[in-house]
Amino acid sequence: MKNFKQKYGPWALITGASTGIGRAISEQVAQQGLNIVAVARNQNNLDALKNQLENAYGIEVKTISADLSLSESNHDIVQQTADLDIGLLIPNAGIENNGPFINNALEDEHKMLLLNTVSPMMLSHLFAQRFAKRGGGGILLTASLFAYQGVPFVSNYSASKAYILSLGEALNVELKPQGIDVTVLSPGLTDTAMTQNMAVDFNKMPITKHQPNIVALVGLQALGKKATVVPGFINKFYAWENRLIPRSWPVKLFGLLIKRAMTAENTPAKLPA
Ligand SMILES: NC(=O)c1ccc[n+]([C@@H]2O[C@H](COP(=O)([O-])OP(=O)(O)OC[C@H]3O[C@@H](n4cnc5c(N)ncnc54)[C@H](OP(=O)(O)O)[C@@H]3O)[C@@H](O)[C@H]2O)c1
Repeated sequence: MKNFKQKYGPWALITGASTGIGRAISEQVAQQGLNIVAVARNQNNLDALKNQLENAYGIEVKTISADLSLSESNHDIVQQTADLDIGLLIPNAGIENNGPFINNALEDEHKMLLLNTVSPMMLSHLFAQRFAKRGGGGILLTASLFAYQGVPFVSNYSASKAYILSLGEALNVELKPQGIDVTVLSPGLTDTAMTQNMAVDFNKMPITKHQPNIVALVGLQALGKKATVVPGFINKFYAWENRLIPRSWPVKLFGLLIKRAMTAENTPAKLPA
């Protein structure tokens, strides 16, 4: 990644930095020599990340423990970092809900929307204002392969990621004149706590699983070059074929695949009376 630090340093702010894809992104951003503001809820995980990155790469890591589904947390982060010259924002924190939509608690669906859509939107808005004043910066948003079509039984999650894909595509064009690069990374199935805990047996689906470090690298390498990026050949095919066939077909296909792969605790048979 040529001139990465000059372009996006000296500080990066990464949410969901403590595990999974966010942790892999943090490691690779640290390797490029940027200092990091790492945000998540669990302070122990953040401390472990700070120790590891500061020792391995000689950079500085500031941690902020915050629940980003609360809109005031997003404002607080901007205030707490006011004295840092942040040039890169990676609002990656996200959660998923799966199972029949009407079985899931409405409160959980609402909380997921606040974290997956409102937090990245707020942070992008607040930091893009800062980036415009300092003459440039970068924003790497995390959507999902599921953003490219509605996905039954992961309906609200896929809708939340479609929002991020659309927001990022638009901001990529809108913010370019201000020197702000915006890219949307849309991972397919990635080996993290999120997918390990899902009540879906992904071995029953014709998809490949990627490691978080590969996904992180693809995203960071695309920043400043592409508006959107999907890691992996098969995932790219799933995202691309949507443009050539009726919109309803991939929705039905994903619905069938997910329904077949859902484990017993999550089947539509468990509908409320
Ligand atoms: N894994 C996949 O297959 C996959 C595929 C496509 C897209 N994605 C997207 O990639 C992103 C990262 O997911 P992942 O797979 O790496 O999941 P993960 O390992 O579960 O990591 C989620 C991160 O977000 C933080 N987080 C969760 N809730 C939060 C909250 N309310 N406030 C602040 N931080 C919070 C977690 O830390 P705390 O729990 O300590 O807060 C953790 O650092 C998400 O946006 C996800 O939708 C993942």
